[in-house]
Amino acid sequence: MSKLETKLAETRQVMNELLDSLLPLPNGREKRVVEAMRYSAISTGKALRPFLTLTVGEMLGTSTQTALRIGAAIELLHTYSLIHDDLPAMDNDTLRRGRPTNHIQFDEATAILAGDALQSLAFEVLASPETHPDATVRTRLVSELARSAGMNGMVGGQMLDLIGETTVLDLSEIERMQALKTGALLWFACMAPALTVQTSSEEREALAQYSRAIGLLFQITDDILDVEGDTTAMGKTLGKDSEAHKSTFVSILGLNKAKSLARSLTERGLAAISIFGKRADMLAETLTFILERKR
Ligand code: IPE
Ligand code: IPE
Ligand code: MG
Ligand code: MG
Ligand code: MG
Repeated sequence: MSKLETKLAETRQVMNELLDSLLPLPNGREKRVVEAMRYSAISTGKALRPFLTLTVGEMLGTSTQTALRIGAAIELLHTYSLIHDDLPAMDNDTLRRGRPTNHIQFDEATAILAGDALQSLAFEVLASPETHPDATVRTRLVSELARSAGMNGMVGGQMLDLIGETTVLDLSEIERMQALKTGALLWFACMAPALTVQTSSEEREALAQYSRAIGLLFQITDDILDVEGDTTAMGKTLGKDSEAHKSTFVSILGLNKAKSLARSLTERGLAAISIFGKRADMLAETLTFILERKR
């Protein structure tokens, strides 16, 4: 295992421990919704978003507790987005991370509620003084996650994704859709540590550019893997994008051009973080990891 893969696995483990403590089972019958939340949140997912927050946090000097709790909030929000993305009204998927999707394991109504409550919990975690002692910093974190998740972020992108099933989007519209649906949350994962400490505007701009490259790169590789990935490694049913006639990087560019765009985004991401020098080695490695990922 590379150093990066070891750190990803460690991040998954500490996230699962923290999520376990954030999701205690109540005694009443409503515990069913918490069981559904735990089923999806405590997981074998890659933990890429918290990993990015922890890595940038270490580079900028954010406290570990702050970075961990921001990471948990992002993972909660990401989990909600996946549960809803898998619903019959959206991508209608039955397999996620090698297990039945939330609405198959429970039922549709419970899956909707579990997603809703995971999103609420994400903001509750950010708003807690345990995340950061300074209320101004907490407010900034809450409003930036809200912006990244909502109509001008992930939800807006998901709307475009669904419109792209019945309307052929052009390349710039697909880029915009992917920047919103996947990029916005990755942007927050990279930028949140910069909201908690003093940083220069050059450093913030470098991180923002890096995160935009990561966002597009991550979604292009997701689209490529939907065509030529391995179902067992990916833990989800593949071939679904073309079946749903979705507008993706691969549908518009074809596999070869999509792969060359992925390589140039990797270079763009590397160039963006050059101002950090060796301090950003792990962030540089992350680009190659995403470019070559199999899951
Ligand atoms: C899947 O995200 C959804 C996309 C944005 C493409 P991940 O591939 O990060 O999912 P997990 O958390 O590792 O399962
Ligand atoms: C989902 O994108 C992005 C989200 C905001 C959840 P996809 O629909 O491509 O993700 P997968 O392929 O189901 O993981
Ligand atoms: Mg989708
Ligand atoms: Mg999907
Ligand atoms: Mg996909």
